[in-house]
Amino acid sequence: MKFGYFDDANKEYVITSPQTPYPWINYLGAQGFYSLISNTAGGYSFYMDARLRRITRYRYNNVPADMGGRYFYINDNGHIWNPGWSPVKTALDSYECRHGLGYTIIKGSSRGIAAEVTFFVPQNFNGEVQKVTIKNTGGESKKIKLFSFIEWCLWDANDDATNFQRNFNIGEVEVEDSAIFHKTEYRERRGHYAFYSVNAKLSGFDTDRESFLGMYNGFGEARAVKNGAAGNSVADGWSPVASHYLEIELAPGASKDLVFVLGYVENSAENSTGNSIGNFIEEKFAPDLTGGENIITSGNSRKNIINKKIAYNMIAQCDTAAKADALFGELKAYWAALLGQYSVDSPDEKLNRMVNIWNQYQCMVTFNMSRSASYFESGIGRGMGFRDSNQDILGFVHQIPARARERILDLAATMMEDGGAYHQYQPLTKMGNHELGSNFNDDPLWMILAVAAYMKETGDFAILDERVPYENDQSKADTLLDHMKRAFNHVCTKKGPRGLPLIGRADWNDCLNLNCFSASPGQSFQTTTSKDGKVAESVMIAAMFAFIGPEYAAMCRIKGDNSEADRADAEIAVMRKAAMEHGFDGEWFLRAYDDFGKKLGGKECAEGRIFIEPQGFAVLAGLGKETGADIKTLDSVDKYLNTKHGLVLHNPAFTRYYIEYGEISTYPPGYKENAGVFCHNNAWIICAEAAVGRGDKAFEYYSKIAPAYREEISDLHRTEPYVYAQMIAGKDAGRHGEAKNSWLTGTAAWNFVAVSQYILGIKPQYHGLQIDPSIPKNWNGFRLTRVFRGATYNITVKNPNHVSKGVIKLLVDGSEPPGSVIPSFPGGTHEIEVTLG
Ligand code: GLC
Ligand code: GLC
Repeated sequence: MKFGYFDDANKEYVITSPQTPYPWINYLGAQGFYSLISNTAGGYSFYMDARLRRITRYRYNNVPADMGGRYFYINDNGHIWNPGWSPVKTALDSYECRHGLGYTIIKGSSRGIAAEVTFFVPQNFNGEVQKVTIKNTGGESKKIKLFSFIEWCLWDANDDATNFQRNFNIGEVEVEDSAIFHKTEYRERRGHYAFYSVNAKLSGFDTDRESFLGMYNGFGEARAVKNGAAGNSVADGWSPVASHYLEIELAPGASKDLVFVLGYVENSAENSTGNSIGNFIEEKFAPDLTGGENIITSGNSRKNIINKKIAYNMIAQCDTAAKADALFGELKAYWAALLGQYSVDSPDEKLNRMVNIWNQYQCMVTFNMSRSASYFESGIGRGMGFRDSNQDILGFVHQIPARARERILDLAATMMEDGGAYHQYQPLTKMGNHELGSNFNDDPLWMILAVAAYMKETGDFAILDERVPYENDQSKADTLLDHMKRAFNHVCTKKGPRGLPLIGRADWNDCLNLNCFSASPGQSFQTTTSKDGKVAESVMIAAMFAFIGPEYAAMCRIKGDNSEADRADAEIAVMRKAAMEHGFDGEWFLRAYDDFGKKLGGKECAEGRIFIEPQGFAVLAGLGKETGADIKTLDSVDKYLNTKHGLVLHNPAFTRYYIEYGEISTYPPGYKENAGVFCHNNAWIICAEAAVGRGDKAFEYYSKIAPAYREEISDLHRTEPYVYAQMIAGKDAGRHGEAKNSWLTGTAAWNFVAVSQYILGIKPQYHGLQIDPSIPKNWNGFRLTRVFRGATYNITVKNPNHVSKGVIKLLVDGSEPPGSVIPSFPGGTHEIEVTLG
């Protein structure tokens, strides 16, 4: 069952029922000011850091679901409704939500009044703009009452949700003309404030939640709306809110546009996050008693009045509908240009919409948010993950390489001198997180992979010469190439009894904790370490090393250090040998050796006999290629892990707690890391199947988990049909096929890599672009446009013999190039013709 449809021409998903199986959300903003917005206008806004600079309040896991957001209430002569249905939930005559790239449009109508709200964060703007259009579609004149509503968060979202003994006393606001300012803690150490304004004269306002809603009412029963009049309340502690009250008279057929701005401003240097777009440092306070009578403040104080100069500027930037429309147009143009870097016209409509629109969009959002704020990540938990962010770069780097470069240098600066890394860092400070620490032994390799991807995309080899600190300490700076060397050495100097890499706390799978042995409830599986860690080995890291290690050797050669490259090759050869001798179990690769030296993920295991993680990298690295072990491995994956909803992480699922394996066995069978369909590592198998030339298998796996293909089963899948979820419940779960944890997942980047580089086969290399598709045999071919290092490649792939893979002819601007890699051009547009056979 579907709850909407894709509008590819407008690059939108159109939701036609407000009661989706789960709130279906979108993200606004890409530079500093961010909003999450659901299809009924639920959600919240924050600046840079979802925990430390939360602007509006949101209650997770609320009852009913998804309460709190930016709401517009219409009181049409006693008939009360919201354009987005919630929170009043009056049945609407029509409803539509269009989630687009960086914007959301919600339309609703009832009894001859139509309302449309466009929500977006303009480029270079620290605020959410809401353009509201109310139209009288009936035959009589009407006077309606419109109320806006948002609830302020007292900045630190964690404190806001826990520290009520203090927080109920500190809330402060100012109201000046049609703008409501939130200034809690501004008097003391904060230099930032937020505001909510509208470009029209108010008939009233409310800034105190209790006055607006009523003590015992929910958002759906707002007292002011029912009364048809605002209370003109001024918050004094408790819960400050912002609501504008407007009376609108409309002749038949007439409509009225309003522009609301929810903005964030930093006035003082000490509190600056260092990323205030267009915000310059100002005097913190206006003179006392400034502005005279039109300023209303908490406590009726005439002191500590905010200096509002920046807010006035922001309001002026969109104080007419025409100005708001122009900013909206700029945003659309920005996205069109970004997505134009890679666009395909294949015989498969769903693949086209994933590649051209939604997967790339999700890559951008994931790059920006890491794993911090979604409807499954509360924004107060995690900083930026080292391995997560490095992998996010793989899917994002072609969009804005300069931002990828900056991220790479930030990540590298959190590395330690031994080549390991802080597992997370805080986006506001860019410092490594000491509580979580290090010892996740896969981490260093992802850093090498990200740098390689950046260099291949851009040809910017000079990045390796950048001087980058270790542990954020400038006195310990060395070149990025040196960081690569230490990352590489971290793996080859930390080996166990069989010459395989020691696993440390976890290797990609955060829940495979072989040195943890936790027996106390509530203990963190990621930070508890009960064993010295000298025994448990990871076959996955060995396979990764075989796949990623050669990138380090290539970097050394690029920099002219051939002897170091030779040393690296020798280390890789040693690892490959160990991986085949001790890591291959006859038909597939083992997962690990545990602390007792016993095999995990092998034939002798009753549960967890075969795992997905090592198989893809092993095949991609060509391990066992000479003997056909690679194909055997992929056949085993198909045989034991394949389900109609994707590949499960391992099989059989763990049915009891294994203290020697850790968190993986804590999840009920079929969920999350315990044999769920973890979409992230499905992509590694897609890549591997494509690499060995089995394009039909690659496509089968791709289409099982790509959300556009699951749209028809939205009632089962539940999360958004336009973005990947981290996990789909596996075959052992009670709800096989149900997805959770949508949006922020490494799935976005890896599936973009899988489809763009392996299936469609457009692969950036250090010295040019390689084209080597691996497609379903029944395709006649496809066309693709790829912008690469400033030149545009118009690529036509022909498949006259209906094969999956194998380039028999390559023409570049009409002539055959010397090799299979097309050298990069200084610019211009180039016609590439590829024939498979
Ligand atoms: C989560 C984490 C990621 C980890 C994965 C598997 O997605 O963000 O770092 O690799 O789970 O445990
Ligand atoms: C839990 C999740 C896993 C995540 C980890 C770290 O273990 O199952 O997916 O990576 O927490 O936050």
